[in-house]
Amino acid sequence: MDRLAEAARRVASASRLTVLTGAGVSAASGVPTFRGTGGLWRSYRPEDLATPDAFRRNPRLVWEWYDWRRQVIARCQPNAAHAVLARWSRRPGFTLVTQNVDGLHERAGTRHVIRFHGSIWDLRCAGGCGGAPPTWHDETVPLAVLPPRCPACGGLARPAVVWFGEAIDPAVWEQALASTACDVFLTVGTSAVVYPAAALVHEAKHRGAATVEINLEGTPASDVVDLALQGPAEQLLPAVDRLLQTTPAAGR
Ligand code: OAD
Repeated sequence: MDRLAEAARRVASASRLTVLTGAGVSAASGVPTFRGTGGLWRSYRPEDLATPDAFRRNPRLVWEWYDWRRQVIARCQPNAAHAVLARWSRRPGFTLVTQNVDGLHERAGTRHVIRFHGSIWDLRCAGGCGGAPPTWHDETVPLAVLPPRCPACGGLARPAVVWFGEAIDPAVWEQALASTACDVFLTVGTSAVVYPAAALVHEAKHRGAATVEINLEGTPASDVVDLALQGPAEQLLPAVDRLLQTTPAAGR
């Protein structure tokens, strides 16, 4: 059986399907990835832009970078990979864990999204004043004032995303961990090098899930998963989806 058919067979027979996505899923939409050719971390240093220290040193610079990324993402549309996952999210037992902060899964209509690294469209009080909601949503592009301010205390607001050196929100971690108790765990478009997200596929395997990877190139996860498919997610996911229509399935 070829790999696409094998992936379709596994997805079709899963009562509980969990999908972990990374920047590669949004690449065809025009959202830059982080690593590899054209990746953001080829041109920028994460320690200057995506750490609590960087924000303390130069909040305006950090916000200029986030404001620029918000403008880029606002011009992008979900692609065929997002569309397939949105359709699959109608199935009972489906969970999507995304490392992406771009909101394209939600714009494609995906249900049950766990935003592992937060959202670039959410802000929170950098000082944690407690007077404002924990996070608030703001899709204004470009932002009117840089850096934006907390509406309650007037101090700095920050993007409600996870920076290097910061912990994942414990509630989000618990949800993501719970989602590894599944029949099939599919990892798509992630370099699988950033922890703890990269640990989820190991955890799923440990718990007995069949593990599948779809990625443009080999990653550290490729040697771990039961089935690795190399190619663009925006082509392979629709190809798997088409095969699903003809694959005998439980629960579809
Ligand atoms: P990366 O940029 O590290 O990896 C993207 C992966 O997608 C690479 O392995 C590419 O080969 C693959 N890829 C590119 N285009 C693709 C396509 N069309 N179809 C399928 N695969 C494709 O992005 P992430 O793994 O998401 O964290 O990075 C993880 C985290 O590192 C991000 O959430 C971000 C970053 O620093 C934070 O900001 C905390």
